[in-house]
Amino acid sequence: MKKLLSASIMCADLLNMERSVREIERAGIDYLHIDIMDGSFVPNITLGFDLINAVKQITDMPLDVHMMVNEPSRFLELMKLSENDILCVHYESELHIARTLEAIKKKGIKAGLAINPGTSVDTFRYLTELIDMALVMTVNPGFAGQRIIPCAERKVRDTRGLLDSLGKKDIPIEVDGNISPENGIKMSRAGADIFVLGTSALFLKDKEMSEAASSLRAVL
Ligand code: DX5
Ligand code: ZN
Repeated sequence: MKKLLSASIMCADLLNMERSVREIERAGIDYLHIDIMDGSFVPNITLGFDLINAVKQITDMPLDVHMMVNEPSRFLELMKLSENDILCVHYESELHIARTLEAIKKKGIKAGLAINPGTSVDTFRYLTELIDMALVMTVNPGFAGQRIIPCAERKVRDTRGLLDSLGKKDIPIEVDGNISPENGIKMSRAGADIFVLGTSALFLKDKEMSEAASSLRAVL
């Protein structure tokens, strides 16, 4: 599977969002990763639905929306997403996650399922028919700039093994959190396909984004 890069725009210059989006486009990044939080599912609040809809108006880049909110099914109508966008919800955030995934698919959007560091990869087992992507969190969700969890590599390898054993080689695995070039290489070897890039790899003070992106692409 082709390795894809997803830029986490909560790490971009929030006061110059359009300029940041243009920079990400120029760097040839594949997805815009937009983190939505509610201060309850995770202890932070960053970006909101209006930002998603505003960004959608200025770019054709596919969005990779990561919902870190309780009961995300309450908000599906607030986002104007299209068929190439991914809407990712957490397994831990809904009592009836299968229903939420079905509702996302019904809207004609790609559905992603995310799992927290403490959640077993086996969670994916009975939901593979409803998902287009598996997101394995490599930090506790909510904040940029954290350290990767110790079992991340094993977890990605186990997820790939599970999906392959179920005949789902086509479901990509996304990794999110502290994906530095070094960690990215490890995750890539373990079977990750989509790499969320934040402060560890793309939004750097001493490196141009396009330079950072092309050196990542060369090693992943
Ligand atoms: C949370 C976010 C963060 C972050 C990733 O879901 O997606 O994990 O922006 O970038 P790092 O961890 O490299 O700052
Ligand atoms: Zn995220």
